[in-house]
Amino acid sequence: MVKVALISGSLRQGSISTKIAKSVGELFPEGYEAQLVEIGNLPIYNEDIDTESNTPAEYAAFRKTIKESDAVLFVTPEYNRSITGALKNALDVASRPYGQSAWDGKPAGVISQSFGNLSGFGANHHLRQILVVLNMPTVQQPEVYLANSHQLFDENDKMNESTTEFLQSFVNTFVDLINRYQR
Ligand code: FNR
Repeated sequence: MVKVALISGSLRQGSISTKIAKSVGELFPEGYEAQLVEIGNLPIYNEDIDTESNTPAEYAAFRKTIKESDAVLFVTPEYNRSITGALKNALDVASRPYGQSAWDGKPAGVISQSFGNLSGFGANHHLRQILVVLNMPTVQQPEVYLANSHQLFDENDKMNESTTEFLQSFVNTFVDLINRYQR
């Protein structure tokens, strides 16, 4: 089974990012398992509490989950033209200890969304900048910027057809990328 970690940058209960992540998770083919990974429980990264002999249990569990994943799909809202603090924190946590980053070499996908027309472009590209140093080969095309995101779902949280179709083509490309990196 190929494991895909779904990471939503929003901690909000009614988060559209999380809804998108769950919907996209269902578009992976047979043999793939896409699961939402919690990031809201991670203490703000602090080297003083992350030592060789002692590290928060949440850090250890999160790093293990990412290490055991074959790929990572990020769905991010935009906060002040960047990613959320929660997402940056999660990226920082699993990038340590130095030389043992859990992200290293994992194929990644990036989706940004916003309620307005800007569609999280700033967040999308700030995240892409971080994925360079984390050495995560990332789907380049199609780029996914979802505008007016609160209108993508019906009252039963079902995503509309044209967006689903577009995201299916994105997932197909992501799967091709993942397959290239499968050991
Ligand atoms: C926002 N929002 C926002 N939207 C945007 O398009 N560009 C931005 O820079 C910001 N900045 C911003 C800062 C902060 C602190 C908040 C709380 C919100 C609105 C934001 O895009 C909207 O709340 C999210 O789309 C909600 O995503 P979730 O929580 O539904 O996943």
